Amino acid sequence: MDAVYIHIPFCKKICSYCDFCKIYLNDKFTLPYLNALLNEIKDRYQGEKIKTLYIGGGTPSCLSLKDLNYLFDIIKLFDLSELKEFTFECNINDINEEILKVLQSNGVNRLSIGIESFNENNLKFMNRFHTFDDVLDKINLCRSYNFNNINLDLIYGLPNESISILKKDLKLLLKLNPEHISTYSLIIEDNTMIGINQMVPVDEETDSEMYRIICQILKKNNYIHYEVSNFAKEGYASLHNINYWLNENYYGFGLSSHGYIGNVRYENTRSLTNYINGNYVLSEKLLSSSDDMDNTIMLGFRLLQGINLKYFYDKYSVNLQEKYDIKELVDKKYLLYKDGYLKINPKYIYMMNEILIKII
Ligand SMILES: C[S@@+](CC[C@H](N)C(=O)[O-])C[C@H]1O[C@@H](n2cnc3c(N)ncnc32)[C@H](O)[C@@H]1O
Ligand code: SF4
Repeated sequence: MDAVYIHIPFCKKICSYCDFCKIYLNDKFTLPYLNALLNEIKDRYQGEKIKTLYIGGGTPSCLSLKDLNYLFDIIKLFDLSELKEFTFECNINDINEEILKVLQSNGVNRLSIGIESFNENNLKFMNRFHTFDDVLDKINLCRSYNFNNINLDLIYGLPNESISILKKDLKLLLKLNPEHISTYSLIIEDNTMIGINQMVPVDEETDSEMYRIICQILKKNNYIHYEVSNFAKEGYASLHNINYWLNENYYGFGLSSHGYIGNVRYENTRSLTNYINGNYVLSEKLLSSSDDMDNTIMLGFRLLQGINLKYFYDKYSVNLQEKYDIKELVDKKYLLYKDGYLKINPKYIYMMNEILIKII
């Protein structure tokens, strides 16, 4: 067990597109929530050395300094003697000297910040508000506190977004020189403001064109495209997320978190009341070896390097090619062999879902 995810579900504002498990920040709930988190960790954690820790949300950065300090006390329950990566998700508007000091003194070494866009119309649509200059000041402040591993999130494919708006967003994002960039095509979920208002994203053709442009521009600027939606400068791919895509075990603590321990996948409740009352788990499923192989395929092909065939054999004592009928996909060059890996041809990465359906 190497990885721990902790979910902090509070947000100061709710974005129009967001279907993550989140609630408005309310001081009445933060302490009971953190107490429940402490109990869940005490119940479940078996003392393993943790290599990567990821505190996400919601918006962990919206907690008060007092609550944040309590959260970091809770984290001391883990054996962090071999910790390599400690990510903390921040909303850009929450970043200030006080919070950066607390994060720095508690060993956070990677920040993940939702920027999403710099375009005024896009931002208004998302119910988010900042200017490029605001963001630049905040990133400079992070740099002055020695945060030298920063991820920025970008959303593209919003209704009425043009290719030129996207290109401008990318240009500004690159000016900030982040070590890591995550780009997501807008998903319109039913129970969000934009879902309720039946908004329609850009058409599929524009969406794939936007994806192609993102890949091209980021590659030209020395970012390695290592996962479908993720790009990093050399040496800055997210260790925590790679552990997940390799289908390795991880703990998930907190409201709505998922975990995978032994051969059991579990999902926590999304009900704050249940969680605070100590009824953490919503469902648990014991996976068969065949289910686990399917997950290794579905997650592993998200990585551009593909799946290590020896690793697959060592884990399951069966060759991937024997378990799955991939001959036609290989013959048609949708799948490629390279250096002991089997990967989706980068040319067809935008068709990943169709390819996975064919394999599984
Ligand atoms: C938990 S949020 C990030 C941290 C913080 N809460 C914030 O918003 O600044 C994770 C990221 O998922 C992406 N995301 C969330 N909902 C999305 C949607 N419906 N479509 C596309 N991307 C989405 C956004 O890029 C967002 O920054
Ligand atoms: S995108 Fe982030 S800040 Fe916005 S509602 Fe979702 S979790 Fe909260």
